[in-house]
Amino acid sequence: MASAGADIVINDVNADGANSVAEEVKATGQRVTVKAITIADEEAVNRMIDEVSNDFGDIDILVNNAGVYIRHEGTLETMPSATWHGILETNLHGAFYCTRAVLSRMIPRKKGGKIVNISSVLAEAAHFEASSYHVSKAGINALTRCLAVELAPHKINVNAIAPGAIASEGLGGMHDAETCAAYRRRIPWGARGHSKDIGNVVAFLASDEARYITGEIIHVDGGYMADSTPENLKSHEHAVPPDDPDPT
Ligand SMILES: NC(=O)c1ccc[n+]([C@@H]2O[C@H](COP(=O)([O-])OP(=O)(O)OC[C@H]3O[C@@H](n4cnc5c(N)ncnc54)[C@H](O)[C@@H]3O)[C@@H](O)[C@H]2O)c1
Repeated sequence: MASAGADIVINDVNADGANSVAEEVKATGQRVTVKAITIADEEAVNRMIDEVSNDFGDIDILVNNAGVYIRHEGTLETMPSATWHGILETNLHGAFYCTRAVLSRMIPRKKGGKIVNISSVLAEAAHFEASSYHVSKAGINALTRCLAVELAPHKINVNAIAPGAIASEGLGGMHDAETCAAYRRRIPWGARGHSKDIGNVVAFLASDEARYITGEIIHVDGGYMADSTPENLKSHEHAVPPDDPDPT
């Protein structure tokens, strides 16, 4: 986003991580500032958006990216209720709080805007023992479509990206060697994606080039959702092509 010319506010409860991304933004010459509040706290979100608006001016683009995932959280009947609520508080309610706070300023200024939500392929397909995450991301897809319809008269585009398996530091870091090998066999591209594969699509959706796209959920998944070929019917040449290098 910075290399496409955006000034950036990064909010992340992991302030160290956010500060290290801020250094990368500074190197592009764009303005950057870091906030470190939990988006699960509506009042804190409202205060943050007020501060950002006062310090930076208009907010043109909101990317709802923060997310949490618990591996093997338990089946629905065994997981603690707190787990369910905790995942939904960040992944779904946090996006709702941030979006509402931004819209309270984006709509009245009458200059349009862009909202990009980071969903997941898991909004549409089930993995064992992760139901709260799936439900949160299905909610993000529904939120995306509802907001696209409500906000089209204000010329605010609302879209979502549904990543497949991405070699990110946090969630991607949970993929152990065995899981990575399994993903390589399962993903037609033959490798996990990289954060930049997602960032590039965010930058496109936030650009004027995407003027007429709204309410879309774009899979960025190396063909994961397109492919239901059983393992034993996969071609030997195609099953495990070489890994892609990180494009960053
Ligand atoms: N990595 C993948 O394979 C993958 C696949 C599909 C979707 N996603 C989605 O992509 C997004 C980014 O995930 P990632 O893979 O880069 O993981 P990540 O863990 O590196 O990034 C998520 C960030 O959100 C922050 N965060 C968590 N809860 C927060 C809260 N309540 N308030 C503020 N910040 C909070 C974390 O500190 C972390 O830095 C998430 O929404 C995730 O669900 C990731």
